[in-house]
Amino acid sequence: MQTHTLTIQTPTSTYPIHIGKLPAIKHSHKVLIVSNPKVAGLYLSKILGLLEAKEVYVCIIPDGEQYKNMQSLELILECAFGHKLDRKSLMIALGGGVIGDIVGFASGIYQRGIDFVQIPTTLLSQVDASVGGKTGINNAFGKNLIGLFHQPKAVYIDPSMLESLEKREFAAGVAEIIKMAVCFDKAFYEWLLTHSLHQPQNLCEAIIKSVEIKAKVVNADEKEKGIRAGLNYGHTFAHVIENLTAYKSYLHGEAVAIGMNMANILACKLGFLNDEQCEQIQRLLQSYDLPTRFEVSNPQAFYEQFYLDKKSFDSRITFILPYGIGDLRITDEVPKSKVLETLEEFVSGEK
Ligand code: GLY
Repeated sequence: MQTHTLTIQTPTSTYPIHIGKLPAIKHSHKVLIVSNPKVAGLYLSKILGLLEAKEVYVCIIPDGEQYKNMQSLELILECAFGHKLDRKSLMIALGGGVIGDIVGFASGIYQRGIDFVQIPTTLLSQVDASVGGKTGINNAFGKNLIGLFHQPKAVYIDPSMLESLEKREFAAGVAEIIKMAVCFDKAFYEWLLTHSLHQPQNLCEAIIKSVEIKAKVVNADEKEKGIRAGLNYGHTFAHVIENLTAYKSYLHGEAVAIGMNMANILACKLGFLNDEQCEQIQRLLQSYDLPTRFEVSNPQAFYEQFYLDKKSFDSRITFILPYGIGDLRITDEVPKSKVLETLEEFVSGEK
């Protein structure tokens, strides 16, 4: 595949996103590669072969969203101090969204901030998480509640790295692609209805399209003061689901798929979406074996958890809802009764 280069240009930084075969990476100071055992087993030697640096160190942290926590952060920082990284050193995040988020955060606070590069190895991180500089970790109170905006120096997206991706991981990334299309691009959504992403050429096109959408949104609103919140469609519900299940039952993209379905049902109740559109999105998600249901045992308790969402202000909960296809509304004026009605639909039985 030909290399595509897109540019992120925000008030704080400008950096390239390369989509295509991984190029050589040069750095004239120390480099710390952070990865997990699975990804390192697959790709570490390839990266080491492409890397030219003064000294290269490797730090391995456990795999999984439940490890995106303070302990893993400390492990990375200890590695960095142990190898005497300085302010000219570089961290490389080699892995999926968990690795990207935690390495972004570690590099953002190490000696008040050093550079880092993203080499995303999952579909979810290639189309969304690696771009835009959101970094952080989870804690007992919720997802990504500790972190900062810290933009990478570059993002290298090589779709051939997805060939080893497990089926569930692949589907989780597709959820984020569908998310972008529903809220931002009707033509892309309609293309997705008729093009299978299991076909490699279609997948490459969808990655490029998703990153283009993401770049446009981040360039317009780096710090999520407005339109960037639209990228959180499905996430207000998803973060509660992930927290309630201790980050163990669902991959992030799977929780987002359920969250999108919940958001769509709420959007229907508000007249933003019609039943046919809601069902079509659900069918599209299900065609990739994504879950769209979650057993809500206590709607009121589920609702209370929304208050820890970073988009809640002054006890008002913000919802990102599709408004037809290709458009969205970001609103903190959704009546609580409509949200509870939506959650009631998930209390028991299949739908
Ligand atoms: N993943 C949502 C964002 O980067 O804003």
